[in-house]
Amino acid sequence: MAEHVCPIWVGHLLASPLRKLFQNPSKILGAYVSRGKHVLDVGSAMGFFSLYMASVVSPDGKVYSIDLQQEMLDKLMEKAKAKNLDSSIEPINCSTNSLCIEDLEGKIDFALIFAVLHEVTDQERFLGEVFNALRPGGTCLLSEPKGHVNQKAFELSLELAEKVGFKLEHCPSIPRGLSVIMSKKRY
Ligand SMILES: C[S@@+](CC[C@H](N)C(=O)[O-])C[C@H]1O[C@@H](n2cnc3c(N)ncnc32)[C@H](O)[C@@H]1O
Repeated sequence: MAEHVCPIWVGHLLASPLRKLFQNPSKILGAYVSRGKHVLDVGSAMGFFSLYMASVVSPDGKVYSIDLQQEMLDKLMEKAKAKNLDSSIEPINCSTNSLCIEDLEGKIDFALIFAVLHEVTDQERFLGEVFNALRPGGTCLLSEPKGHVNQKAFELSLELAEKVGFKLEHCPSIPRGLSVIMSKKRY
């Protein structure tokens, strides 16, 4: 497991509906997800964003919610069942050296990496796996929390993203975040 992995109690806080007051999933993600899309939520924790995306992509699409911690995914699926969204979410319990998504190569329309990358030891490998999962023309939103990540560290992550093949598009304004929209070019 990574050195600074988010504890379960913080996972509960991050899943609070009160968070919508400053980070509203529909405002942040509304432009990128729609019915029928196949999306990744990498480091989903208890599903603050996965549950919103499942409500939008269902019934034809799918949210792949990936997390290192099975307990985060168990809570996420409890919440999904209560909202009748469990058939639209596939939980994936990954490891520190693999996101375990080789079977999704080229199939994903949109990937979200929200408040996760600073917990990852090998960012280049992690970003490369997300890049491989995207279809040509697919999009990724990377956002890091300002309190934990400074501009310099964020820029180093952006360099790695470009190194694995991402094209940096623009920096959306997300409260308390350093954020970028990146794409996988069509060839
Ligand atoms: C701070 S939480 C953010 C959760 C969620 N994205 C949100 O914004 O509500 C970070 C999550 O990433 C997970 N995580 C950390 N390192 C990871 C890795 N290498 N692969 C997948 N998940 C990871 C942690 O277990 C934790 O659930």
